Amino acid sequence: MPSVYIKTYGCQMNERDSEAVAAQLVAKGYSLAKSESAADVVLLNTCSVRDFAEQKAINKMRNLVGTARSEKRDQIVGFMGCMAQSRGRELIDQLPDVDLVLGTQKFHRAAEYLDELLAGKRDKIVDVAAEAKSEATIREHLLNGSAKTSVSAFVSIMQGCNQHCTFCIVPATRGEERSRTIPDIVAECRELVARGVREITLLGQIVTSFGRRDIPALDGKSGFVQLLDAVHEIDGLERIRFTSPHPKGYGDDLVAAYARLPKLCESAHLPLQSGSDRILKQMHRGYTREKFLGIVEKLRRAKPAIGITTDIIVGFPGETEEDFELTLSLCREVQFDNAYIFKYSPRRDTPAAGMPDQVPLEIREERNERLLNLVNEIAALKYDAFIGRQVEILVEGPSKKNAARYTGRTRCNRIVLFDGSARHQGQLMDVKIERTGSFTLYGDPAVVNL
Ligand code: 5AD
Repeated sequence: MPSVYIKTYGCQMNERDSEAVAAQLVAKGYSLAKSESAADVVLLNTCSVRDFAEQKAINKMRNLVGTARSEKRDQIVGFMGCMAQSRGRELIDQLPDVDLVLGTQKFHRAAEYLDELLAGKRDKIVDVAAEAKSEATIREHLLNGSAKTSVSAFVSIMQGCNQHCTFCIVPATRGEERSRTIPDIVAECRELVARGVREITLLGQIVTSFGRRDIPALDGKSGFVQLLDAVHEIDGLERIRFTSPHPKGYGDDLVAAYARLPKLCESAHLPLQSGSDRILKQMHRGYTREKFLGIVEKLRRAKPAIGITTDIIVGFPGETEEDFELTLSLCREVQFDNAYIFKYSPRRDTPAAGMPDQVPLEIREERNERLLNLVNEIAALKYDAFIGRQVEILVEGPSKKNAARYTGRTRCNRIVLFDGSARHQGQLMDVKIERTGSFTLYGDPAVVNL
């Protein structure tokens, strides 16, 4: 049977989609290749959020087909996911060796299309059509794929986003918001827990809008909070996380859920994007600086140890030095545990790409650097504050870089490395933090688990 290699770019949603496609192919008898050159089929699961991510995948494909051709290897190659969706057939016009372009609503058809291509029944396949109920098809898991994934799993709860932030290509790549049903999601989570999973991360492009159109509020709880309640009921599940939310989705019902549901980890990713009200408005974010600060305060009041991370865009069109300084000052005020900073990248067919006053690249780079220095300085202080503290971690498995070390995560989502062994895997255990590395804590379990 043929072997397949899937390379994933971008976010956790993409990782999850790749896993579901890999599981689907394995169920059909495919094997998973260890490298691209050893594979009969190579799929690149792509990201379109910034131009850089698209260029990386295009260059990778160019190298792949060049190498396969020079080594006279017959390989089926394809793009799937966000860039496949937004560029479609154009990708084959640009790279004629590409055999398959599989959009974001078509992952469940991967095996069928690859079978046809491998059998020579079809020469090229491009499928980027919308498909009703495709949101419920990302379901299969590959729990034996890597030791780590069997402790912690991702579950896709919805697809698409209707927020239409002016910088963002996601509504075009993932489509309209479509949510799965609560019983369907809970059934998938139950199966995972029965197979040994102890932590579940609920995924979607805007999870806080889950069920907005289909699930009426109940006792003041949104559809998303009702889903959290339902997943929380599952015996044997220890931890629940979710990503990515929208700040405006942190209503009182969700804030109360952190205090009410012990399995819901004290961690929140709150994408800020900008600290300037003028820019937030241009971005169509739907909140102000003050509102954002209010959410942070509410969350910290409910859970003082909560880890708060964010995404920020620098150099959005029209961003002045004053606007940027408002972002800096907001970061000083909030003290994020970590922040992902992005230089604004114009995306096709988005309103911001056509706005006047595009910020020159040198200024975007300079602001990126200044903000990075500030957020790293704050993050390092926050990491250092863990030294000497005892924290609970869920052990995921051996560390990728050094197999003698084991890796786990705190409830507030920080990575902890310690000298462990296979018996620790899947365990909740207490460790004492002894030192910090770059975005890592080093712990010692011996002191507290005698
Ligand atoms: N340019 C730069 N960053 C972007 N993001 C989304 N669209 C763009 C863009 N056009 C960032 C946002 C989002 C994260 C996933 O990617 O910060 O939260």
